[in-house]
Amino acid sequence: MRLKGKVAVITGAGRGIGFSGAEAFVREGAKVVIAEVSEESGRAAEAKLRAAGGDAMFVRTDCSRSADVQALMAAVEKRYGALHVLYNNAAIFLPRADGPVTELAEETWTRILSINLTGVFLCCKYGIPLIVKSGGGAVINTGSSASVMGIPGCDAYTATKGAAVSLTRSMAVEYGKKGVRVNCICPAGIETEMVKASSTDNADFDAAYFFKRAPLSRLGRPEEVANLAVFLASDESSYINGAIIRADGGITVTPIS
Ligand SMILES: NC(=O)c1ccc[n+]([C@@H]2O[C@H](COP(=O)([O-])OP(=O)(O)OC[C@H]3O[C@@H](n4cnc5c(N)ncnc54)[C@H](O)[C@@H]3O)[C@@H](O)[C@H]2O)c1
Repeated sequence: MRLKGKVAVITGAGRGIGFSGAEAFVREGAKVVIAEVSEESGRAAEAKLRAAGGDAMFVRTDCSRSADVQALMAAVEKRYGALHVLYNNAAIFLPRADGPVTELAEETWTRILSINLTGVFLCCKYGIPLIVKSGGGAVINTGSSASVMGIPGCDAYTATKGAAVSLTRSMAVEYGKKGVRVNCICPAGIETEMVKASSTDNADFDAAYFFKRAPLSRLGRPEEVANLAVFLASDESSYINGAIIRADGGITVTPIS
């Protein structure tokens, strides 16, 4: 019960890393708000968490839309009266449409930035005041291996994930003073639909083969990121602020990558 009494919003918690985080948060005693754009997976996630005995609420949210995010935070305050953890996990990765800047459609650039970066901005803009009002807490942002190394063929995605790291640092400085710690998880090679799509939608890339050559010789599991998110959300990480932590099996520190 490392998160007992805490209220957490997790964006994109309908599946993948976000859902695994929601499962772990609920197991540790948190009340979890699933801020998910997909009605179907959001409802299914809510049902699964409740069936496991958890206190969970789905609020259909497109994190790139200001009105949705404002309504989300209002729903959180109405239902729980507080917010302690904001886990900015939602993002899109479009291996077919994203690409090198010279070949990237302006609409694709705008779409990816609006979800992966503006979405984080909006959730922080409207979520942090509630965290401060609740006595402080934690923001967890989500980067990627693309935050710390150059990855060809996805310049828009890479730009947003670099920004997640920079924003984490500046927010940690700003909001640490107000009792809000801001940290960033940089995953890579975690077995989710996103990683599957990176292989099926890109003939030049096979994630399973690529991560076999990584130091841990395998893909990661969503729970392995969720464990880190629980730590960063909990009071166990009370002196950790502005940290960029990789959960990537070491792929970004090996010469073969
Ligand atoms: N899986 C990996 O190996 C990996 C690697 C690097 C970074 N990441 C990052 O981890 C996070 C989670 O990735 P994942 O693999 O679980 O992805 P995923 O595609 O499996 O899940 C993403 C979830 O976000 C939701 N979502 C998409 N747009 C949204 C929006 N506008 N508003 C609200 N929800 C929205 C989707 O519906 C989905 O449920 C992302 O930020 C991703 O960039 C993942």
